[in-house]
Amino acid sequence: MSRNTGDNQNRNLSSNEPMASVLDTFLSRRSVVRGGLGAAIAMIAGTGLTGCFDSDSDNDHDSPSTPTPEPTPKLQLGFTSIPGSRTDAVSVAAGYTAYVLAPWGTRLSDATEQWKSDGTNSAADQANAMGMHHDGMHFFPINGSSTDGLIAINFEYIDQDALHPAGATSVGGVRPAEEVRKEINAHGAGVVRVRKSGDRWQVVENDPLNRRFTTASVMNLSGPLAGTDSVKTKFSVTGTQTRGTNNNCGNGYTPWGTYLTCEENWPGIFVNKGVRPADQVRIGVSSSAGNYDWETAAGDASEVNDEFRRFDVTPTGATATDDYRNEASTYGYIVEIDPYNAATLPVKRTALGRFRHEGCWPGLTTVGKPVTFYMGDDSQNEYLYKFVSTALWEAADANPSDRLATGAKYMDSGKLYVARFNADGSGVWLLLDVMTPTSDGSTLGARFTNLPGIILNTRGAADAVGATPMDRPEWTAVNPLNGDVYLTLTNNTARTTANAANPRVPNNHGHIVRWNDGDDHVSFTWDIFVYGANAAGTPDLNRSGLTELNQFASPDGMTFDSRGIMWIQTDNGEKTITSYTNDQMLAVIPSNMVDAAGKQIPVNAQNQGDLRRFFVGPNGAEVTGITFTPDNKTMFLNIQHPGNWPSTDVATDVTSGTVRPRASTVVIQRADGGELGV
Ligand code: FEO
Ligand code: CA
Ligand code: CA
Ligand code: CA
Repeated sequence: MSRNTGDNQNRNLSSNEPMASVLDTFLSRRSVVRGGLGAAIAMIAGTGLTGCFDSDSDNDHDSPSTPTPEPTPKLQLGFTSIPGSRTDAVSVAAGYTAYVLAPWGTRLSDATEQWKSDGTNSAADQANAMGMHHDGMHFFPINGSSTDGLIAINFEYIDQDALHPAGATSVGGVRPAEEVRKEINAHGAGVVRVRKSGDRWQVVENDPLNRRFTTASVMNLSGPLAGTDSVKTKFSVTGTQTRGTNNNCGNGYTPWGTYLTCEENWPGIFVNKGVRPADQVRIGVSSSAGNYDWETAAGDASEVNDEFRRFDVTPTGATATDDYRNEASTYGYIVEIDPYNAATLPVKRTALGRFRHEGCWPGLTTVGKPVTFYMGDDSQNEYLYKFVSTALWEAADANPSDRLATGAKYMDSGKLYVARFNADGSGVWLLLDVMTPTSDGSTLGARFTNLPGIILNTRGAADAVGATPMDRPEWTAVNPLNGDVYLTLTNNTARTTANAANPRVPNNHGHIVRWNDGDDHVSFTWDIFVYGANAAGTPDLNRSGLTELNQFASPDGMTFDSRGIMWIQTDNGEKTITSYTNDQMLAVIPSNMVDAAGKQIPVNAQNQGDLRRFFVGPNGAEVTGITFTPDNKTMFLNIQHPGNWPSTDVATDVTSGTVRPRASTVVIQRADGGELGV
């Protein structure tokens, strides 16, 4: 179920939508041109782009000399789609087990109190325990193991009613310092050692790699904005550090073994009661109050190092190093964490843009080619971004001695692009750099001074170059079999004008778009893979012909496992679906969905059996976050903001009575110990 406090409102005042006449032309031709388009564009552009949705063996875009792999038996889904469910329990496909691991408040060491069901754990307890509202996560194996590893995980936001004994309090408009600290500590990310003992995974308490990162933890700034005047504060007069990460939503990982946590609805924790600079207006920093009024605890007798004051970014001092006017400029980034080295600080990689980052997924790596990352900005009518490293991938960097130095090599220098989806099924990645011409005849350099200025107001720069406003870009996912990239567009109730990639007005159910990048990194071809809808919807709504057994809305989390199964998770509040089922997870193998000529095709009325519902969450919850062990025999997923769950560690048990709800990781295994999904 969709959260109530997420702020994904439309703040895009640009006029970047295409003309309706272009769209009409596109819609009438779309079904005809599908499939042959990649080759046609390659011929026109001379880019050498191979036909992008031709077949599931099309994995040689970047390395024509790579030998053709041995054919492998075709992977097929091996479970039966399950009906919807609306209970205080999860439900999972027949033949699978699901149990609760590491719910909110699970302590990471025995120096901390156990979680208490009355909400009385202290702020200090919370700083050394699992945070609230689990979201994106990634499994990092220890020495390649599928029974021992680290889960790096995001804690997106909080439920104040569950966090405190009797909800949030304030006296005369001032929040108590201890409550604010507990809230700050419940946000962020963490690393937790997990190990399989017998058939069952358990948290390894006291493991030296267990760590929490909160909205107070010290982090380094890196990339173009680091050290600039824009990020200097009283806390870091050199502009090289900040405190905390916040609203960590989707995630990513790197080919060199680090975790990426992504700052999404962070603007909500700040307030600027003065004149907000353009970037704060465009991103949505409040002019009245922070979401949780943390700034009101400033001046408390126990306050240390302006721990509360920093959330009020109104200029008050003589210069930026006398106050916290730039504190919000140190948020909105992709944050790199080395899960294997507890002595390291997280690093905010500013080269990857500043916006409401949903996720950050790497493209396939090829030796001698740049490393790429795909990123959504989750608000209504915001954009899709790509980062392309300056450094070219070296095989030895898959196992480096210094992972964060490798991160600096590939993530501190490169090109940031924003996507324009053309109506003919082609697309262009628009470079966000000083020489790029803007739609009004200027350049980004003239408009934003320099690259740090462009990054600080990434949305504004993307507006200026004519990027395509999308229906709330959430996660990206990369098909390991062919490099195709998928993007969930969760919904957009504010859409008033269609564009080719976002054709429904409004879009209450969401859809998934996919593309394949050309070798030149600036062109791509795209299509729409599936439209969310209720089965009983009109043909214009239910464009993918969904049935009761796979109807869904508001796709959000999404990933491929290493075999090419794509898993789609929902965060939905659309009532035609909520009246049938809670949030869910579906599975599909896109590379199997081809026409008679071997061209990849979208979900349609004829291939409904290929898109199957695997899992349904409990009442009130969103299903988000997903990762696998290397052997694909264990899946970890997250249940966020459940209403009244869990009551036992059997995730499928229906809660009797009322419990203090706890976001939790759920472990899914096949009862016979086999690989998942097949
Ligand atoms: Fe935190 Fe866009 O979901
Ligand atoms: Ca999300
Ligand atoms: Ca969402
Ligand atoms: Ca969400």
